[in-house]
Amino acid sequence: MESKMEKIISLAKRRGFIYPGSEIYGGLAGTWDYGPLGANMLYNIKEAWWKKFVISRDDMFGIASSIMMPEQVWVASGHLEHFTDPCEGKKFNTMFKSKAGALKDETTDVYLRPELAQGMFVNFKNVIDSFHPRIPFGIAQIGRCFRNEISPRDFLFRVREFDLMEFEYFVREKDWKKYFEYWKKEMRDWIKETGIDNEKIHELEVPKNELAHYSKRTIDFQYDFPFGRKELYGLAYRTDHDLKNHKLDYYDEETKEKFIPHVIEPTFGAGRTLLALLDSAFAEDELVPPGRDEGGEKRVFLRFKPHIAPVKVAVFPLLKNKPDIIKKAKEVYDMVRKEIQPAVFDDNGNIGKRYRRQDEIGTPYCITIDFETLDNDTVTIRDRDTGKQERMEIKDICFKLRKKF
Ligand code: GAP
Repeated sequence: MESKMEKIISLAKRRGFIYPGSEIYGGLAGTWDYGPLGANMLYNIKEAWWKKFVISRDDMFGIASSIMMPEQVWVASGHLEHFTDPCEGKKFNTMFKSKAGALKDETTDVYLRPELAQGMFVNFKNVIDSFHPRIPFGIAQIGRCFRNEISPRDFLFRVREFDLMEFEYFVREKDWKKYFEYWKKEMRDWIKETGIDNEKIHELEVPKNELAHYSKRTIDFQYDFPFGRKELYGLAYRTDHDLKNHKLDYYDEETKEKFIPHVIEPTFGAGRTLLALLDSAFAEDELVPPGRDEGGEKRVFLRFKPHIAPVKVAVFPLLKNKPDIIKKAKEVYDMVRKEIQPAVFDDNGNIGKRYRRQDEIGTPYCITIDFETLDNDTVTIRDRDTGKQERMEIKDICFKLRKKF
């Protein structure tokens, strides 16, 4: 029998969420490509994160910094010395190194960032000079990171390039415990709001001897993945390690104090979020048709929250060979997609199959245009999770759907 993980990977490939990287050339270990539905979902995850942690707050500054950074950054941050994995008896630095520039004596050694944090630290002074924020405040970004993992594995879980969502929150040293607790709670709220199964989340206090070189305290938010309980997110107290090593400090104009802020860092892997969401949302049941007690058909469906779902609504004409119904369905589709995106139109195959196809990709609602629509301008709206259908007037569709979302 197929395991849950095998089912998720095969659905993700077949329906266009995730494909193996460079597949037609035999693949490249540790790389996966997001197909149209996966890319929509990744976008939804990032958008929800950016809204919650950046643009809805007055104390957070979003940036987008360069992926390549020169060697000096990684010397100061400690990554050149410490960002290693033991391999065959020796230490192996997992940063990807390259050279920028063409002429031999003008090239610069660069590294692809293994974390976003250094982009926030090297711009600390720039943000202060432009915006004059008062402590506490944070600098956030979303972006791609690279790690030459020795053994990439478990689908999106351990890969060699991945999207991170991360911020550095600058506080006075005496306040670090308070803000550590504050951000722990905010991370918990994010997990619930996004639709990750909260029952599968466990907080792990990382033992002192396993802390990253920059951290004095770290909590891992672990998730019960099908392949075991593993790190989903991290929350670290980075002390003043980075700002001190970059020789940066802060001047409080009101109190006239000069000091090096301490840092609380919540970090969220976007790929691991998507994987945890696929696992949390994955469901199988037997849907009994309306008016019957048994005779249900087995189905797979993804119970995504609407703001995460890669398609929000599908529009179907009941029959393909009735021009009046097709015409009306196209009108409804044009109206709906202006307000609710992404929407899809599907007239291929019988209606039951079309519902199953949308269930399998997690589309929350399907609208069907039938003979009754031609009489009284009403349609049916079917709910993905219950399979129940509700009739409503065409003019109310967008309003009512937005209310459900
Ligand atoms: N700035 C802190 C930092 O980078 P980390 O625990 O090394 O901390 C942050 O990584 C997050 O990035 C992890 O919690 C995880 O979600 C994600 N992550 C780390 N390595 C990964 C990999 N090889 N593949 C996919 N995601 C990864």
